[in-house]
Amino acid sequence: MRRMRRLRAPKIREMVAETRLSLNDLVQPIFVDERISVPRAIEAMPGQFRQSLESVAAEAGALEDLGVPAVLLFGLPSQKDEAGCGAYDSHGIIQRAVAAIKETTGLIVITDLCLCEYTSHGHCGLVRGEKILNDETLPLLGETATSHAAAGADIVAPSGMMDQMVQAIRAALDVDGYTDTLILSYAAKYASTFYGPFREAAESGFAFGDRKGYQMNPANFSEALWEVQLDIEEGADMVMVKPAMPYLDVLRAVKDMFAVPTAAYQVSGEYSMIAAAAERGWLDERAAFLEALTCIKRAGADMIITYWAKEYAKLGL
Ligand code: PBG
Repeated sequence: MRRMRRLRAPKIREMVAETRLSLNDLVQPIFVDERISVPRAIEAMPGQFRQSLESVAAEAGALEDLGVPAVLLFGLPSQKDEAGCGAYDSHGIIQRAVAAIKETTGLIVITDLCLCEYTSHGHCGLVRGEKILNDETLPLLGETATSHAAAGADIVAPSGMMDQMVQAIRAALDVDGYTDTLILSYAAKYASTFYGPFREAAESGFAFGDRKGYQMNPANFSEALWEVQLDIEEGADMVMVKPAMPYLDVLRAVKDMFAVPTAAYQVSGEYSMIAAAAERGWLDERAAFLEALTCIKRAGADMIITYWAKEYAKLGL
């Protein structure tokens, strides 16, 4: 008799596992806040902290010691303005944080490349009235990219969903000689409610409207493939699907169709749902994040950006 359960016996179950998580696949996001001197807890993301310029290198060092291979940096500048000048300031928060981390660790440093944490209106591009200006934003993204590369960033990750951003960034990097800097494009980034806690973490809420004019409609699948194809054509070295868990169908299709290095971003809301339920005793946090990460990898992710990277590393699996 065919008995599937034979394959589920202890040890055999592990031997025939089709997916194995590896610390090598994980990226830890770090928020760096120019206005603080010691780490500060992020209320909407229990267990996560903002780092200061003084503390960020030590945190990066701790991650490296645990074996986490890469970090993704987000900056909170001391001042915001209409044009998001802090994003491309050569002495900006991210530029200094990258330099500090690169001085003391061998981590892969990925920088989020977007204006929204630096603009007073909180949008990912320049704004006229209530219109988000695509083409006028592109040179600023190029400038931001070269300033990150100059500070030592290995990978820049544009997350603003402006059209032609990858091409503009590649051109700017190449012209300045940063031909080895990689681009990880947030290619299929959806206008998701699951970014809610991040907006507290990075103080990147917006003053008017929403991001539906540039981020994708959660109802769409084919459009994601189109977005990914365009970003690859424009020169992306790696692509991303974001969020992760509600979009595993998209992730699977992107990996199968394009066979390029594919990242998934398990976003703040995916983190906080589990963390908050665990605080109430409703879920086992460790089991829940291990299951979620395994499923994201099963769906095709080569890399997973996760707020649990450090916790995963501590498990020593
Ligand atoms: C900025 C950006 C956002 C996230 C990453 N980069 C917020 C947004 O687009 O509104 C979300 C990450 C998370 O929720 O963990 N463009």
